[in-house]
Amino acid sequence: MGGDDMGQKRGGDLPLFLDERTDLRSYRRKIKEKNGATRKNHKNFSRLSSLVSRLFSIFVATMSEAINNVKQAFDAELAQTDLTNQEAVNNLRVKYLGKKGAVTDLMKQMGTLSAEERPAYGKLVNELKVAVSEAIDKAIETANQAALQKKLESGFVDTTLPGAGIPAGSTHPLYDVREEIIDFFSQMGFEVDFGRDIETDWYNFEALNTPPDHPSRDMQDTFYVDDKVMLRTHTSGTQIHYMETHKPPFRMIAPGHVFRVDNDATHAPMFQQCEGLVVDENISFADLKGVLQVFMNKLFGEGVKTRFRPSFFPFTEPSAEMDVSCVFCGGKGCRRCKGTGWMEIGGCGSVDPNVFKNCGIDSEKYTGFAFGFGLDRIAMLRHAIPEIGLLTSNDQRFLSQF
Ligand code: PHE
Repeated sequence: MGGDDMGQKRGGDLPLFLDERTDLRSYRRKIKEKNGATRKNHKNFSRLSSLVSRLFSIFVATMSEAINNVKQAFDAELAQTDLTNQEAVNNLRVKYLGKKGAVTDLMKQMGTLSAEERPAYGKLVNELKVAVSEAIDKAIETANQAALQKKLESGFVDTTLPGAGIPAGSTHPLYDVREEIIDFFSQMGFEVDFGRDIETDWYNFEALNTPPDHPSRDMQDTFYVDDKVMLRTHTSGTQIHYMETHKPPFRMIAPGHVFRVDNDATHAPMFQQCEGLVVDENISFADLKGVLQVFMNKLFGEGVKTRFRPSFFPFTEPSAEMDVSCVFCGGKGCRRCKGTGWMEIGGCGSVDPNVFKNCGIDSEKYTGFAFGFGLDRIAMLRHAIPEIGLLTSNDQRFLSQF
């Protein structure tokens, strides 16, 4: 850069025009005055900035002294601490790194500083924190080792003591019953069809020989989606779906959830049933009795007896309720069986010819039997569960007993 340039620069942007009113001398004088003022400004500015930077270095020096003091105090205390004493080491940790510790206090100062001060201070205080944390970690490790050593030396370790153990989960009693039923009937050659929870009026009632105004509908009041669609009240509708899509002979079971407007100790708005259906030539009520007797023995043990009481279902003819001898008193009569010695398990019967007709099966050629029982009831009998609601309450105190 040439000298002229520098001259102009120094002049700054003062309006230094040469016109007829300005003689050369006064022009030069003006230039001199201007340059003098600028130099003075420069001087003032550099004085100010050196003051600021001096203040800043005083600040840094003060802060680093504070930080150093904490570090020295810490080092001194660490040297005094018994490193084999876990409690002493922990006290030291709390004193410096705890919520109200000395290092934490210094960290908190960050918030009160200006943007210029923060980086320098942050760096120093962070170095302090890292140094103290590392020293404390080491001390903790030493103390833990010492404690372990002491324990090992102090005596006998009984390695035969049982461990703390991981609590094992278990299957739900209803799930167990369902699996057992599926197992049992699968072995007897039954197919499993889970059906659907939502049925139309046709499958839940009409095809099962239960026309719209049939009084037996009153016993199965349900939750309607609309006039013709509902949550199924029993698993019997699956019989219809199955017979529509399969040709006899067949054997099937249909476990699943059912819904009724019911709610007391032994009735829940949602519970589970298992349907059964066998269709072939020459199937009789005796086959039904035989299969269910074996099944009850499987569920409740060899000694259990069954009895079939005449009953009514629109879709079976004849129909029966099946009871088992009381599983609590063995049939003598007790509080649980209300002194009768018997307990009701479910409904059953020979398939009504009208049902066959609704499904396009020749009722002259084929006969069959059907049954349906509640899984909740079976689970309640097996485990002496007093209330059906417990089964779906999701209560750990109840569930952990299984
Ligand atoms: N579906 C009847 C009920 O829920 C039980 C049943 C099934 C009866 C099959 C006879 C035949 O009560």
